[in-house]
Amino acid sequence: MTTTTLDSLLAHDTSDMLGAAATLPAQLPDGLARAERVREALQAAWPSDKGATPRTLVVCGMGGSGVGADLLPAAADVQAPVIAVKGYDLPGWVSDEDRVVCVSYSGATSETLACFGQALDRSVVAAVITTGGELAERARAEGIPVVELPSGMQPRAAVGVIFGALVGVADALGVVDDAQRVVDEAVAGASIVVDEHVGTGPEHGGDEPPALGMARQLHDKAIVVSGAGHTEAVAHRWKAQVNENSKVPCFANAYPELCHNELVGWEFARATGASWALVELLPFEASEAIRARFDITLRLVGESIDDVLRFDPSATTRAGATFEQLAWGDYVSIYLALLRGIDPTPVDRIHVLKAELAGR
Ligand code: PA5
Repeated sequence: MTTTTLDSLLAHDTSDMLGAAATLPAQLPDGLARAERVREALQAAWPSDKGATPRTLVVCGMGGSGVGADLLPAAADVQAPVIAVKGYDLPGWVSDEDRVVCVSYSGATSETLACFGQALDRSVVAAVITTGGELAERARAEGIPVVELPSGMQPRAAVGVIFGALVGVADALGVVDDAQRVVDEAVAGASIVVDEHVGTGPEHGGDEPPALGMARQLHDKAIVVSGAGHTEAVAHRWKAQVNENSKVPCFANAYPELCHNELVGWEFARATGASWALVELLPFEASEAIRARFDITLRLVGESIDDVLRFDPSATTRAGATFEQLAWGDYVSIYLALLRGIDPTPVDRIHVLKAELAGR
């Protein structure tokens, strides 16, 4: 690929989503440091006389702000169940034995504010993670610790700082043992991919960025992403990134469950008229049973699929593998947008919907 062709693709990235993706390794320790700043207040939210950990850690958040709730138990060994709540209602069972963290980049998301209100009524909020907005205002008025996020980003591009902050909060509550190690491992994994994309390409005398080659394979195809274990969360992140950055549908599922339904659904996939591509995210230290399921399923469904990308992580830890495969998805989704000739950053429809809802 010539420099000119790459330049003309990059010209679509007017809001610099590629630049944002490259900040992932630096965001992770920044998020942890932000949680550390309010550590004493966080520890007071779960005093040691109440036990080593809350019964569960409930994490409320939507979209780009909710992904940390999936990534925390995927990447870290947690000492209590982490329950993601993506909706208006805190489960009825949440009580003083549990602790709730509300995450909203804007601090203005109605579902998260609704859960925050319910958690306040039950006196179970441990912290909020936000740039400000109503969420920060109400938390401060109630003396609840606020982990402040840096402003000016897209929520989904703040995944590193949100994750780092959430791991820090979980550590202060006893739910994670060693937040620093988790973050260091995540940085190592993310860096594998970021390093391959920063300062590469023909203008630097190299080949085209590897994620661009992958995006070419996926371009104009209906994409299905499969994970297993910790990569189930990553598959859902890929799906959301392809939706928001590339602005096309994308579907995510996980082994072994997909062997009990989706496997059959591929039989007449060609009848839909779509050209299908499969992205397979093998988990870190995949068991023989899981590897066999990936292999056999691919053989069975292969004739319905035009392209397959298989990612076997090279990171040597689970947190590293999680963020390595996540970073691949971020880059591929951005290049998919650039190949379509669109700016990956704006998500106008989300704002239209939120404005319409606010007007009702
Ligand atoms: O990527 C986005 O912009 C969305 O997925 C938002 O994260 C989502 O709408 C929730 O908003 P916020 O992150 O401000 O709570």
